[in-house]
Amino acid sequence: MVDADRDRRFMGAALAIGRRNLGQTWPNPAVGAVIVRDTPSGPLVVGRGWTAEGGRPHGEPLALAEAGELARGATCYVTLEPCSHHGRTRPCADALVAAGVARVVSAVEDPDPRVSGNGHARLAAAGIAVTTGVCAKAARRDHAGHFTRVLKGRPHVQLKLATSADGMIGRAGAPGFAITGETVRGRVHLMRAEADAIMIGIGTALADDPMLTCRLAGLERRSPIRVVVDGAARLPLDSALVESIGEAPLWLVVDARAPADRRAALEEAGATLVEVPRDATGRSDLVAALRAIAGEGITRLMVEGGATLARALLDGGLVDEAMVFSAPVTIGAGGLPAFATAGPEAIEASGRYVLAAAGRIGTDEYRHWWVKDWE
Ligand SMILES: NC(=O)c1ccc[n+]([C@@H]2O[C@H](COP(=O)([O-])OP(=O)(O)OC[C@H]3O[C@@H](n4cnc5c(N)ncnc54)[C@H](OP(=O)(O)O)[C@@H]3O)[C@@H](O)[C@H]2O)c1
Repeated sequence: MVDADRDRRFMGAALAIGRRNLGQTWPNPAVGAVIVRDTPSGPLVVGRGWTAEGGRPHGEPLALAEAGELARGATCYVTLEPCSHHGRTRPCADALVAAGVARVVSAVEDPDPRVSGNGHARLAAAGIAVTTGVCAKAARRDHAGHFTRVLKGRPHVQLKLATSADGMIGRAGAPGFAITGETVRGRVHLMRAEADAIMIGIGTALADDPMLTCRLAGLERRSPIRVVVDGAARLPLDSALVESIGEAPLWLVVDARAPADRRAALEEAGATLVEVPRDATGRSDLVAALRAIAGEGITRLMVEGGATLARALLDGGLVDEAMVFSAPVTIGAGGLPAFATAGPEAIEASGRYVLAAAGRIGTDEYRHWWVKDWE
């Protein structure tokens, strides 16, 4: 008998373990799988798996390996439709059939045209009972990177902003001026760990000389790829970004303005150049930049740049999610104003976003928006 509450409970567990490797599995989605057996004393989890770093193995074969023979006749909860195409390993749908699983509960169909419905159909054809759409909304959010890359050909873009009580995002002549408190800093580093890549404009790189790595104890190896929109290749060779290339890769989005000697020097230092055309305003074309980054496999892009880049992405309809932290501090004279047309108020007024969550983190407040047409 199908028990909807029980299905939601175990899918919740699969979603939670699937999220463990967010930011580590690109170009693949981070999927969780839980195998549950009925026993006289109630349901028992006999296998758990989540997509490994680098995207392989997938969650299902790992959960099946842990369950062993106990998978026969059991139910598998999986956060995305099991794959049905042959890659380097056999399809997960076939592995579930071979293991003798009796039922598969999946959260959402995979939009990848190589799978899209075929995984579920393959299971059903083998006599496995298939239930789909359990916790679909949460799964679509967790897999937003994969969905956006497959459906729109660009990464899911998550904008992060910090503003002061008087609407400033920094102070002139004060590099790396911290607006928000220590607790938000920890949250931002966690967001970095869960992103495949992080993007800023050259303005922020020159003003703040940031490193953009994840510096949470134990999560240092989870630093995302750092991407700087630097059309004219102005990033200094002695910048923290270049000097930390050994810790995390550095990609520079450049255009025809970039002189050959600067390109060569930055490449020599270990940076990867992503060449894009110029847009109508003469700057690097951001749509082309996002497409190129997705082409390299990036699915989840966090943007930590300044007002110029944030505004351009918002104006271009390229922001899918915005996390705005507001601090109780007043910056006053010398403050750099947030965004005349694309600040937090403009995000709200645009009507394009819904407030998904709001609250307090340490001394600061946050508002978390998702684009409306996402659901
Ligand atoms: N509070 C916060 O959340 C926060 C976050 C980051 C930075 N900041 C502050 O913001 C200040 C820097 O602001 P900013 O606006 O100069 O930084 P930015 O937006 O990170 O960088 C601006 C540069 O990025 C490139 N760029 C931006 N938009 C582009 C577009 N549409 N197309 C192509 N290229 C584009 C341009 O480089 P080219 O001119 O070479 O084309 C532009 O000069 C710093 O003081 C920093 O502390 C605050």
